[in-house]
Amino acid sequence: MSNDNQNIENQTTSNPNSTALPEKKPSPFLTEQLPQGTAQGQQQTLAQNSTASNQNIPHYNLPRGANTGNVGETTHFGFKTINTEEKAQKVAEVFHSVASKYDLMNDLMSLGIHRLWKRYAIHLSGVRRGQQVLDIAGGTGDLAKVFSREVGETGHVVLSDINESMLNVGRDRLLDAGCTNVDFVLANAETLEPFADNSFDLVTISFGLRNVTDKDAALQAMFRVLKPGGRLLILEFSKPVFEPFSKLYDLYSFTALPLMGKIIANDSESYRYLAESIRMHPDQRTLKGMMENAGFKNCDYHNLTGGIVAVHRGFKL
Ligand SMILES: C[S@@+](CC[C@H](N)C(=O)[O-])C[C@H]1O[C@@H](n2cnc3c(N)ncnc32)[C@H](O)[C@@H]1O
Repeated sequence: MSNDNQNIENQTTSNPNSTALPEKKPSPFLTEQLPQGTAQGQQQTLAQNSTASNQNIPHYNLPRGANTGNVGETTHFGFKTINTEEKAQKVAEVFHSVASKYDLMNDLMSLGIHRLWKRYAIHLSGVRRGQQVLDIAGGTGDLAKVFSREVGETGHVVLSDINESMLNVGRDRLLDAGCTNVDFVLANAETLEPFADNSFDLVTISFGLRNVTDKDAALQAMFRVLKPGGRLLILEFSKPVFEPFSKLYDLYSFTALPLMGKIIANDSESYRYLAESIRMHPDQRTLKGMMENAGFKNCDYHNLTGGIVAVHRGFKL
């Protein structure tokens, strides 16, 4: 692998050697009705608020996705119900649109608190010198940058994302910071096709999992690429534990976020999706169950800022 822009590995749908994972039943952990749309694992007909593919929107060439049967014909994109195959394109549109303003918006929206959440996740990672680390959906590279320093010259970090615009921002940033032990790889979290089995000591995904269509497949792929003894960390928005706090948080998410998106990035829709996708993401206990179902042991989670965010941890033993 190379740091060269032109050599970012683009895994397309044309890999004839890839074998689809075996068919399995929908996730048993996602049977509760979520606010709107179709939760992963629930078969539903396309709702009226479905969005048809818009011909004016570019079609992005995405790394190959999973086709496991974990997700029904339809799924959710925020609160909308869409055809499952449309979701990756729609998520791609969001992150191509926000890539250049992503870091600024992150600081503004969270008042800088995302840095503390990430610091706590890094603390739980137990990362050490000489280790091999994969940061999935790593975007602009906040975690990978710290891991690069922590693993040192004898270690190695892969910053991976499905989205070339996000990955380009991350690559430029990390190369500017002198991170010479980092590779940049375009990959879909659902398959992690570029990566061999049992190759990483630590796998992380920070604020990425909720965007993934087939989360069960992604968790299985993470398990596959981890070495025995390796650790998975998932930092993600979750369910606030205190109900009155939830109401305030909803008010902020559904009014302030799209407004900030409009003013700073001229894109309120992407930030509305952000708020909606957070509400549609599995809660703490559900996600822990999904990790266990994928084979992870000793799974636990830590709520941060009253459960607005949680760090889930699991081990491949
Ligand atoms: C909110 S950003 C998080 C970026 C970074 N990890 C952070 O914590 O700041 C979500 C990232 O997930 C990526 N993503 C979405 N779906 C993905 C998938 N199926 N596989 C890999 N990355 C994906 C997006 O391209 C985007 O860069």
